[in-house]
Amino acid sequence: MSSATAEAIAAASAYEELHVPALFEQWAVRVADAARVSDGDRVLDVACGTGVLAREAAARVGSRGSVAGVDPNPGMLVVAGRLEPRVRWLEGVAESLPYDEDSFDAVVSQFGLMFFTDRNAALREMKRVLVPGGRIAVAVWESLERSEAYPMEVELLERVAGSAAAEALRAPFVLGDPTELEKLFRNAGVEFVRVSTQRGTARFPSIRTMVEADLRGWLPVMGVVLPEEQVQRILEEAERVLSRYVTASGTVEFQSPAHIVSGTKP
Ligand SMILES: C[S@@+](CC[C@H](N)C(=O)[O-])C[C@H]1O[C@@H](n2cnc3c(N)ncnc32)[C@H](O)[C@@H]1O
Repeated sequence: MSSATAEAIAAASAYEELHVPALFEQWAVRVADAARVSDGDRVLDVACGTGVLAREAAARVGSRGSVAGVDPNPGMLVVAGRLEPRVRWLEGVAESLPYDEDSFDAVVSQFGLMFFTDRNAALREMKRVLVPGGRIAVAVWESLERSEAYPMEVELLERVAGSAAAEALRAPFVLGDPTELEKLFRNAGVEFVRVSTQRGTARFPSIRTMVEADLRGWLPVMGVVLPEEQVQRILEEAERVLSRYVTASGTVEFQSPAHIVSGTKP
């Protein structure tokens, strides 16, 4: 594994502390269910990040099974390794998985497919490493329009910081079309493809925490670093723009639905 910088580890720790409970944790059980992960399985989590889905798999497979997690971000893998040493964490990309064919009973992935440079190649790879009859389950966000607070935040970014910033926040939602998704999996040779669209709830401690994490945590990952003056203006305006999602206790809650695509290797 290439060595992670202190900044990359700090960014991954912040991701684990804020984004994982706010957005991602609730999907791990559902994706593992969709892939029918159970006792004794050999499971691969692709784009594992800090490993929330791999940890769910590890809890299910028991001592007879095994779990591997692969991600190109060394900072994510350092944090993942501290949280769950039983999983074999490995640096790599989905388009060229560092495993032999027929290595896994189930391949799972959540909220990574939209960022892969070659989605077709990645799905072919995920199928290659599965045993015949092996199961795949992948979660992606529904379209931006169905994800309540984000269209407003995107609009705010577009207005204050321009289109590159807005595009960076649109990127996670580009696979919202279920028909296209199904086609993508069928073209990779996956059988019995099913797209299940499910409700989810995003929960952040406050508007400021949510938007600041996007501006200082997410945008730089997408290559967009905003001047401090723009960050401050967006944070200030976000309090008004997103106020309808503030609960009585001051937290922020809104619907964030996702698609879970599942299927099997012939
Ligand atoms: C939004 S995070 C999701 C992480 C994790 N699955 C979770 O649920 O918390 C997206 C992840 O995709 C990874 N990623 C980006 N491009 C990738 C690629 N080509 N192959 C594999 N992973 C990739 C990133 O490093 C990041 O960890």
